[in-house]
Amino acid sequence: MGELRFAVVGNGLRGGLARHAHSPATGMSVVAVCDVRAERLDKAREWYGEGLRTYLELDELLEGDDIDAVFVLTPDYLHEEQACKALEAGKAVYLEKPMAISVEGADRILASAVRSGNVLYVGHNMRHMNFVVQMKCLIDRGEVGQVKAIWCRHFVGNGGDYYFRDWHADRRYSNSLLLQKGSHDIDVIHWLAGGYTAAAQAFGGSFVYAEAGKRRQSPAPVPSWTSDDLVRHWPPRSLPDLNSVIDVEDLALVQMQLDNGVLATYDQCHFTPDYWRNFTVIGDEGRLENFGDGGPGSCIRLWNRRCSYDASGHETIEVAEGKGGHATADQRCVEEFVAVLRGERPPAVSPTVAARQAVAAACAATASLRAGGGVVCPVPLAPELERAFSMS
Ligand SMILES: NC(=O)c1ccc[n+]([C@@H]2O[C@H](COP(=O)([O-])OP(=O)(O)OC[C@H]3O[C@@H](n4cnc5c(N)ncnc54)[C@H](O)[C@@H]3O)[C@@H](O)[C@H]2O)c1
Repeated sequence: MGELRFAVVGNGLRGGLARHAHSPATGMSVVAVCDVRAERLDKAREWYGEGLRTYLELDELLEGDDIDAVFVLTPDYLHEEQACKALEAGKAVYLEKPMAISVEGADRILASAVRSGNVLYVGHNMRHMNFVVQMKCLIDRGEVGQVKAIWCRHFVGNGGDYYFRDWHADRRYSNSLLLQKGSHDIDVIHWLAGGYTAAAQAFGGSFVYAEAGKRRQSPAPVPSWTSDDLVRHWPPRSLPDLNSVIDVEDLALVQMQLDNGVLATYDQCHFTPDYWRNFTVIGDEGRLENFGDGGPGSCIRLWNRRCSYDASGHETIEVAEGKGGHATADQRCVEEFVAVLRGERPPAVSPTVAARQAVAAACAATASLRAGGGVVCPVPLAPELERAFSMS
């Protein structure tokens, strides 16, 4: 593939991701953008020039036979329909996480990719974040021996602002925040552990937002808040403009048994004062833990000798700082997608089956949580899909 021509559907917050693929000097251009909001199309014209073709309907965009690949950057509940349409229309697809809001949806997308023979790449950009890559390298080098347990705690300090003001708060559109937000973290747990969830069990509920704040009654787009507003809105119960429907959980505690015997826990809270995520990996010869996830001063500490508690660890590994969207991880994702399109390498770092397995694990955990905490096994991947992707 020489020249690459891209299209985008959904030019919102994540629209900027496709800008990494716009480099006319190197033969890559975004030539068409679809969004239901006119101002988002104006923004796209600013980025890509007046020659850009703009659409309100994806079907019309897909008629263009000069498009090689489509970035699907719309809200989660549209991924299944739009990714399938683009694949079946003969385009490669870069799909934002989570792959879909149900296992059936994710499997439909995989089946469309197999049937159409087109490249499908799911943008699990956390796999390209420096702290995750560095933890993975330490594990692969045997620094903690064989991994036996992974604990992830995600303090989603801005949870109310980002997930309880619009469609994210409504399970019809997001399923749950264990899926919406957690698919990233569960995918990292799977990757670091080298296995997929075989059984999940979870407790959780709506502890703050369902009873809190003022609700919006109109479906109009959420007004944007300045960062001053965000700081002023404390405690979380005081948040205004919450979504009219809130039926997703704001606190969830999950336990998982992976198919290779590793045990994992995933704790997610949407009303902490601070924001960060911490992964602790315990092996049979040591443990490691990240402090910070890419900002200044972030590091990974490694303990691998007998000792009393020593907060500084036996070794401190600085996390390389990144720049731009999600600390350069976005750019790396797009570069990998382009390399796959050009046939330069297989999508080794962000495999599509792993993205599906993150959805399956999150759906199982959500089902457990909503049924009182019993063990739920994720829906297994159909053998024909497993075969098709192991050969691709
Ligand atoms: N990988 C990450 O780190 C990361 C971070 C944030 C969001 N996301 C994911 O990215 C996706 C987009 O999130 P966002 O924050 O950019 O949302 P957003 O609401 O800012 O943008 C979505 C855009 O899609 C448009 N849209 C809605 N319906 C449409 C339709 N039928 N056809 C065409 N356009 C339509 C909206 O007008 C909007 O411009 C979501 O799936 C989200 O989960 C990923």
